[in-house]
Amino acid sequence: MNDLTAELLNRLSSVDGFLSGETLCREFGITRSAVWKHIRLLRHDGYQIDAVTGKGYQLSGMTGRPVAAEVFPLLTTQRFGKTIDYHPTATSTNLLAKALAADGAPEGSVVVADEQSGGRGRMGRTWVSPPAVNLYCSLIVRPALPALRVPQLTLLVAVAIHRALTELVPELRAMIKWPNDILVDGKKLCGVLCEMQSEPELTHFVVVGIGINANQREMPPELQKIATSLLLESGKLVSRPALLAALLNHFEPLYDEWLLQDDLAFILPSLEKVSLLQAKEVSIDQRKQTLCGTVIGIAKGGELQLLTADGETILVSSGEAHLRKEIV
Ligand code: BTN
Repeated sequence: MNDLTAELLNRLSSVDGFLSGETLCREFGITRSAVWKHIRLLRHDGYQIDAVTGKGYQLSGMTGRPVAAEVFPLLTTQRFGKTIDYHPTATSTNLLAKALAADGAPEGSVVVADEQSGGRGRMGRTWVSPPAVNLYCSLIVRPALPALRVPQLTLLVAVAIHRALTELVPELRAMIKWPNDILVDGKKLCGVLCEMQSEPELTHFVVVGIGINANQREMPPELQKIATSLLLESGKLVSRPALLAALLNHFEPLYDEWLLQDDLAFILPSLEKVSLLQAKEVSIDQRKQTLCGTVIGIAKGGELQLLTADGETILVSSGEAHLRKEIV
């Protein structure tokens, strides 16, 4: 969508009722046939616009897609989401965002897709990304911090997502599974894949890829036992533009606070309340070993604190956690 079409859409969505063709011609400095051309483009994009002789134009239906024109009015952020690069279809929003970031795109830029043909998950897995139902987005961040602190970002994102989900679907019993999955009753609702380009002392950029299963009515058979969606859990359809806006609105203040702090101590109390692994016996698969123990907390550096069978407390900074059994 070009800038003028997007501005016309914003203007139409700013009023409750009709705007005359004459008003639009005057405000945008264009002819009536140019107004009509933009209206046709908007209709082609899925917007419902009534045109009534003597009254003008009225926006009567949005697309429900997470496009800039539908996300912008809901944002309370200063930087995040001010540029939204929407793709009806993409291989992977993370791949697109990494290319944009390498080209100098500013912090806060967002890439979003309606569907992904090559959605990527952690550990080289694929992320099933059907069209028109879920949220697939990637945020570009440029924290002026050493690369060592970047893994903390994933927990920060998880907290922001959890807050956004709680705002939109308050009845949802979602939990954060360290470091960055969101689960409901043991089934995965959301995943985060952070990819960064850095030197030891300097982070060039991080692409934070987020996939949230929103309005998917049925999971593929192979995922039915392990994955779920907001619709399956709550019975309600969720607005994807509202979901993306809520996510950005919650993320920006957390991120800004984190940049001022030395660590994650400021979010640990809210994080531990919704931490799925707290007080559970777990095994953590790492590349070369598996660690076992009881989770006694999350350290301010973002590591999982594990009490091992020989009574030693260790800090685990990465790996895939699996529940063994509940202790209490
Ligand atoms: C995981 O394995 O849990 C992480 C999944 C991350 C999926 C998201 S969808 C948007 C972004 N683009 C990708 O290709 N992956 C991430």
